[in-house]
Amino acid sequence: MKELSQLVSSIPASVTLAVNDKAKALQAAGHDVIALAGGDPDFATPAHITAAALAAIENGATHYPAPMKGIPSLLEAIAEKMARDNNVRINPKTDVVVTPGGKWALFLALAAVLNPGDEALYLEPVWVSYPPMIKLAGGKPVPVSLPSEDNFRITADLLRAQITPQTKALMVTNPSNPTGRVVTQEELDAIVEVATEADLYVISDEIYEKLVFDGRSHLSIAAAPDMAERTLTVNGMSKAYAMTGWRLGWLAGPTPILKIATRMNSQTVSSAANFTMHAAVAALNGPQDIIAEMCDSYQARRDFMVKAMNEIDGVEVRSVEGAFYLFPRFPHSDKNSLELAETLLDKAGIAGTPGIAFGQSGEGHVRFSIATAMSELERAVARLAKVAGEL
Ligand SMILES: Cc1ncc(COP(=O)(O)O)c(C=O)c1O
Repeated sequence: MKELSQLVSSIPASVTLAVNDKAKALQAAGHDVIALAGGDPDFATPAHITAAALAAIENGATHYPAPMKGIPSLLEAIAEKMARDNNVRINPKTDVVVTPGGKWALFLALAAVLNPGDEALYLEPVWVSYPPMIKLAGGKPVPVSLPSEDNFRITADLLRAQITPQTKALMVTNPSNPTGRVVTQEELDAIVEVATEADLYVISDEIYEKLVFDGRSHLSIAAAPDMAERTLTVNGMSKAYAMTGWRLGWLAGPTPILKIATRMNSQTVSSAANFTMHAAVAALNGPQDIIAEMCDSYQARRDFMVKAMNEIDGVEVRSVEGAFYLFPRFPHSDKNSLELAETLLDKAGIAGTPGIAFGQSGEGHVRFSIATAMSELERAVARLAKVAGEL
């Protein structure tokens, strides 16, 4: 048999999904495992959204959607949402494509701007899928390592240090998975400054936009002066509306880029699911207080977990500003993050994601999801306290 693709073979499997699968398999085999490795809200999709999908199915939205890039009511709902929440104006007819999940929107963005050998910067610790996606799109992934000691702060100098004549794009996750940081005005200014002087496209992943704590505001990069022409915004339904399984996201940005991204969407996945688009219209145009309720609940869980974990000798965790992950360190331990995650799973039945999965600057950390019922989090902390001495 001839050799398989070198490019695709070089891509690692997602560690997050692998740990999650292992935890689920252990649970299925009867082990009492607390699964904190995934990123799936424990809330049900709100009933009015599910009802809209069922009605759409009954009304025949079970064929290809028209247009394939998104039904007009959804394209308009997205444009209105972006104007309302993000202060970003887009033309719903030309500047947005609906995708099966935000993940595919990220890939379309990279594929639309990168040529072979172009470098794409990403902030590290990074969500596991960015470097493989950059490679698959033909680019070279280049980390901008953000130091844990400085609370993973983004500065113009850190960004500038990685710029070369080949640098084409910068990927920003705001709020960040896994660090829980929310970009400040000062950090946004640094991104704008460097993106403008180095003529970069910015891919702004705002999938956790609605999950910001303590009254913080989410800042959209495309809304900053002169940034709309170089910013591609990725968002979707998964995290804000507890709709991970519906697979619905979007890519929005400058018309010429969206033109080719839309072409790529049509030649690969064709479209997102039709009735899911109807559900998304109900979500975006319907009551938004459900998001605030979920966000309040994540914040309460964060408060509980941060306090309880910091009371355990050998565990250190910062309070997070957004998203639904904690990223503790284990200062007395000489284990690396893979060993730490393995010990936690074997000795305490807690599944967390090893920090190294998020790049070198995630080493020493383990990521715990707090999109998990409070009763499970309470059990996790009690178990952590028992094994902390062995870590
Ligand atoms: C940072 C980040 N971006 C994008 C996604 C993709 O979400 P989806 O494809 O479910 O919309 C995730 C999911 O975990 C994520 O954590």
